Amino acid sequence: MSHTRFPPRSGVLEIAPYEGGASSLGSGHKNVIKLSSNENPYGASPMAAEAYRAAGDNLALYPDGHAVVLRQTLAERWGLDASKIICGAGSDEVINFLCIAYAGQGDEVMYCEHGFLMYRLYALSVGAVPVAVPEKNRTADVDAMLARLTSRTKLVFLANPNNPTGVCIPQSEVNRLAEGLPDGCLLVLDAAYAEYVDTADYNAGVELVEARDNVVMLRTFSKLYGLAALRVGWGYGPDHVIDVLNRVRGPFNVSAAAQTAAVAALKDVAYHDECIAKNAICKQILSKAFEAAGFSVTPSQGNFIMVDIGTAEKAALMDQHFKNNGILIRRIDGYGLPSCLRVSIGTEDETNAVVMAIKSFESA
Ligand SMILES: Cc1ncc(COP(=O)(O)O)c(C=O)c1O
Repeated sequence: MSHTRFPPRSGVLEIAPYEGGASSLGSGHKNVIKLSSNENPYGASPMAAEAYRAAGDNLALYPDGHAVVLRQTLAERWGLDASKIICGAGSDEVINFLCIAYAGQGDEVMYCEHGFLMYRLYALSVGAVPVAVPEKNRTADVDAMLARLTSRTKLVFLANPNNPTGVCIPQSEVNRLAEGLPDGCLLVLDAAYAEYVDTADYNAGVELVEARDNVVMLRTFSKLYGLAALRVGWGYGPDHVIDVLNRVRGPFNVSAAAQTAAVAALKDVAYHDECIAKNAICKQILSKAFEAAGFSVTPSQGNFIMVDIGTAEKAALMDQHFKNNGILIRRIDGYGLPSCLRVSIGTEDETNAVVMAIKSFESA
């Protein structure tokens, strides 16, 4: 390839194109159970699907570039100020906007050792230096993060709960991190799995955004709301950040169909409460099955669990065994966890299929 004659910005060639969770087993396999991308196994709310279909009657018009109705509906649903919300084509896009707007050549973008991969990739794409801070017991280590800050650190990303570990850190630790950042450095709390969290003191980030000027919260419709295909996410931040992000975003960055489906989804609270309840039950069944087979499961606040299979070789064998049984899960070598597997929580039937596969792996 002609990269030497047409060199991209430094850092770009260090990016390995993102590999999402596997979506097929190749030809010949029917009834694949896809537990590789933390999607909602029950699908989108019927109300959201209907709104999406109706959007098909109006394809000639541009979407509302300010996503007014979606921002207002989000504000009503979560008790927020609509003017502090920005919508994106997935929360991924808002991560990208943050890197474009706040980090440049030589600046540092910090995240945790086993943090979500896109932080590193977007940092590299703008020429910034990605800084992965070691964790303690596979959990964000706020002291280590504070100690690693420099005057060049512009963004600190923290997924709470984290993907792929599923771990949450206590609110007091999040507060300590926000308080300890130097001037000019933003804390981005990525709460993609917030709706699944069931700890008493959890706050996805709203309180900090409203109390401080250096915190941004990210949310998505790709997980609980079952709208991953439509690409819609959002950020909540202080006025100065929202103003900046609106300057770098494309004028019509969220499609009309995505906006209208997301609005309908937000109104179907009962459907999503049921999905959350079923997730909790199946998560427990699955965790117990792995533990009964002798594997250690990291307690997860999300719609997935991370299981340590012991060695990379054994993890590869189990991954293949699942594939042989039509089940797609996620190997997470790319996250520095080669001996672990991440398994999204499926429906009850899917969970039973995984439990059977765990048992047959043991006896194989
Ligand atoms: C922690 C975290 N943040 C952000 C995202 C991106 O989600 P979206 O589909 O909204 O771009 C994901 C998706 O897996 C995630 O796990």
